[in-house]
Amino acid sequence: MSIPFNRPAVTGKETQYMNQALENRKFSGDGEFTKKCHAWFEVNLPCKKALLTTSCTHALEIAAILADIQEGDEVIMPSYTFVSTANAFVLRGAKIVFVDIRPDTMNINEQLIEQAITEKTKVIVPVHYAGVACEMDSIMEIARKYNLLVIEDAAQGVMSMYHDRALGTIGHIGCYSFHETKNYHCGEGGAIILNDERFIERAEIIREKGTDRSRLFRGQVDKYTWIDIGSSYLPSELNASFLYAQLEMATEINNNRLRSWNVYYENLMPLAERRLMEIPVIPERCRHNAHMFYIKLQNSKQRADMIEMLRENEIMSIFHYIPLHGTRAGINFSRFDGEDCYTTKESERLLRLPIYYEMNKDDIQKVTDVISLFFTEERKV
Ligand SMILES: Cc1ncc(COP(=O)(O)O)c(C=O)c1O
Repeated sequence: MSIPFNRPAVTGKETQYMNQALENRKFSGDGEFTKKCHAWFEVNLPCKKALLTTSCTHALEIAAILADIQEGDEVIMPSYTFVSTANAFVLRGAKIVFVDIRPDTMNINEQLIEQAITEKTKVIVPVHYAGVACEMDSIMEIARKYNLLVIEDAAQGVMSMYHDRALGTIGHIGCYSFHETKNYHCGEGGAIILNDERFIERAEIIREKGTDRSRLFRGQVDKYTWIDIGSSYLPSELNASFLYAQLEMATEINNNRLRSWNVYYENLMPLAERRLMEIPVIPERCRHNAHMFYIKLQNSKQRADMIEMLRENEIMSIFHYIPLHGTRAGINFSRFDGEDCYTTKESERLLRLPIYYEMNKDDIQKVTDVISLFFTEERKV
């Protein structure tokens, strides 16, 4: 494809920092670069404590352990999400309760959460789709009223804001992804953001195979032992050094992506105004990170035709999540509360367009020209 869907960012300093990690002769986790990444989040988000993990999937798994999920506990989330959002809790024995999304942002409909709460509910998981914030004020209010935990799946939301707060820092816990499909990455990686002091010490232990090795490194104990359940959730210094180069350039990457996103938005606005298709809605209280530019077509047939026409023009476009509630695992591990008014319908007509750091403006123009042509040709048929 001459215009790929994604081209993972490389900013220039990755090799320098990876070489520095080699010179340090420290390859396993929690060395100089991991600490630098932690400090970057703690200062820039800001947050109480950030810990790098091997993926967002693993950050979610740590969060599910911290939430002390027991067999039969219920966790509320949207069905329009990545499998890991649900899997992390199912691994601990939870039943997933899906509620419908809002058609404007594709995020969980905060007005449907309260009616899905039962005496078994323990956690609400807002997923900030495309880096656009869920309605966090309402969600935090519901959580307070029913004494629930909020674990933000902010896999796509690094550097996005809700009012003046960074996504991932509003709930009790936040989870980030640094997979190469994300704005800032290290191939595979993630972070858990701990906004509630209660969880910090236990999170360190779970992340270090259930041991207090972190306390040994800080000189707080003279040997480390098995304290709790846990696994190997910390990434190597090579990953951390790569990631740190990207974090240092986070504002530049963010602004560059936003410029591309805005070109898409302006070029496609006339088609949206003619109601031929829909473009993303960014609520006023949200400052997004241009993680994704999607369009919504009439239905899955029109979407398939659009994918085909873009492909013929060497442009890669991809649809997104298949809602979890209808999948084989979803049927076993979940229930859908209320009616699926939008989850399936909206997911079937959403199409993601290419967007990445340093995307050529002419390439964006080419994508939007093909989309415009699609509608001209369609009208001729
Ligand atoms: C909403 C959401 N949550 C979790 C994940 C998992 O992230 P990772 O690949 O870092 O495990 C993804 C991955 O794309 C995602 O989109």
